[in-house]
Amino acid sequence: MATDSTSFPLRSLASEICTHADTLSTFYETHDLTFPSLTDTSSGCLNSLPHDAPEEVLNARRDILEAIRTLETMVQGPSETLRLLVHNFHDTATLGTVVRLGIPEAVPLDGSISFGELARKVGVLESKLVQILRYAFTNYLFRESPEGYISHTTISALIAQPNIAALVYLITAECLPSPAADSPLRAAYNLGFGHNRTFFDSLTEEPERVSRFNKAMKGYTQLTLEGIQADGTEDVEAFPWDILGKGAKIVDVAGGSGHISCAIATAYPDLEVIVQDLPQVISDSQSKLEQSHPELKGRVSYMAHDMFSEQPVKGADAYYFHKVIHDWPKAECVKILRSLLPAMKPGARVLVSDYVLPPPGELTKIQDKLLRQWDLTMLIIANAKERYREEFKELFALTSPDLVFNKEYKARSNSAGSIFEAIYKPSSSAPAVAKS
Ligand SMILES: C[S@@+](CC[C@H](N)C(=O)[O-])C[C@H]1O[C@@H](n2cnc3c(N)ncnc32)[C@H](O)[C@@H]1O
Repeated sequence: MATDSTSFPLRSLASEICTHADTLSTFYETHDLTFPSLTDTSSGCLNSLPHDAPEEVLNARRDILEAIRTLETMVQGPSETLRLLVHNFHDTATLGTVVRLGIPEAVPLDGSISFGELARKVGVLESKLVQILRYAFTNYLFRESPEGYISHTTISALIAQPNIAALVYLITAECLPSPAADSPLRAAYNLGFGHNRTFFDSLTEEPERVSRFNKAMKGYTQLTLEGIQADGTEDVEAFPWDILGKGAKIVDVAGGSGHISCAIATAYPDLEVIVQDLPQVISDSQSKLEQSHPELKGRVSYMAHDMFSEQPVKGADAYYFHKVIHDWPKAECVKILRSLLPAMKPGARVLVSDYVLPPPGELTKIQDKLLRQWDLTMLIIANAKERYREEFKELFALTSPDLVFNKEYKARSNSAGSIFEAIYKPSSSAPAVAKS
C-alpha cells in the first residue's frame, strides 16, 4: 500500500527529528562539547548550543523542537492537548510557590534532602510540599531520587541563583496565593478571591456558576486521556452493578447533574438511582432528565441533600461517590462518610470512585503531569487532594471499624480511576435500619 508524509505524518516527523538529532550530535562530537544534562548541576551548561554555533546547526535545533512539538501534539490528540492547556496555570503556580517558600535555596546543590526535612526548613506542611513538588517534578523542576528525597535538576538549580529567583518571584508569586493550611475554608481559592465559604458553597450563590460547573463535569468525562481517563462511562464497566441485586437502590451522593447515574441506569435497567446534591445544583435536573432521558423516568430521581448531614435514604444497597471525595481534605471526607452510617443496613456498600495516584515513576512524565494537575486543582479549591491507594482504605478505617474495605475495582487499563468498595458490617447487635 502506498504511504506518503500526508497520510502518515508521524513517520515523516520522526524521521525529520532523527536527521536534526544527527546534525546536533555531530556538532557536539566534532567540537568536543558536552550536551546539557537535566540532572548534572555541576556542568554549568545552561544552553543547548553556543551562541556562535553555525547557522545550519542553529536551524537544526529550531527545526527539531518544532517537529517534536508537532509530533507530540498530534500523538496527544485534541482532547489531551486541550486538557493540558486548561491546567497549564499549575506550571506557573507551582513555580511561584516554590520560590516564595525558598525551596531552591533549601535543596542542596550537590546532594538531596528528604520531604520531611525540607518541609521543616521552609515551614510548610509536609503533605502539601509533597503535592506541590511531585507536580513540579513533571516539569523537570527538582527530581525525586531515591523516593522521598529531593535533588536539583539543572533547571531548578537556576532558580537557586538570587537574580533568577527574584525574576521568577516577580512574574509568579507576586500574583498567586499559596496554600498554607488543611481547611477547605483557607484554600488558595478562598485567599485569592476573599471567599469565606467553601468553594462549593460559594458556587451555589451564583446560578450561572452552578450551571457552568455542571457542564464542566460532563466536559471532563468527555475528554479522554490515555492512561488517566478512559471516558465518562468507565464506572459503568468498572463495577459489576448487577451484584447489587434486582431492583437495588443506589444513592449517587453529590451526583451533580446525574450524568453518571443516567449511564449506569441505562446499562442496568433493573437499578434505581437517587441523585443527591445541593438544592441549587439539582433544582431543574428532574425536568431536564425527563426531556433528555424519558425512558429513565421513575428509575432516576433527584433529592436535595447536604452530604455533611445525616443520610435521609435509609437502607439503600449502595452509596456511590463519583469524583466527590477528592474535593475534600481528610477530616471532611470522614465526616461525609460518617453521615451515611445511621442510614446503612448491614451488607450495604460505600463506593468511592476517584483517580488513584501511582507511586512515583510509574507513569510517563506527561501522564503524571495530567494526574497531578488534577491533584493541584483540588488543592487550590479546597485544600483537598487526589489520593494514593492506601489513603482510600485509611478513610474507611477512620470513618468506622464497621465500614470494612472489601475491594478495589480498577477502571479500564487505560485509566487511573478505581472504585473502592467498603461494606458495612456492624459489629454491634443493633437492629438493621428499615428499607425506605
Ligand atoms: C466534582 S463534583 C462531582 C459531581 C458528580 N458526582 C460527577 O462526577 O459529575 C462535586 C459535587 O459535589 C457537590 N457538593 C458539594 N458540596 C456538597 C454538599 N455539602 N452536599 C451535597 N453535594 C455537595 C457539588 O455541588 C458537585 O456537584
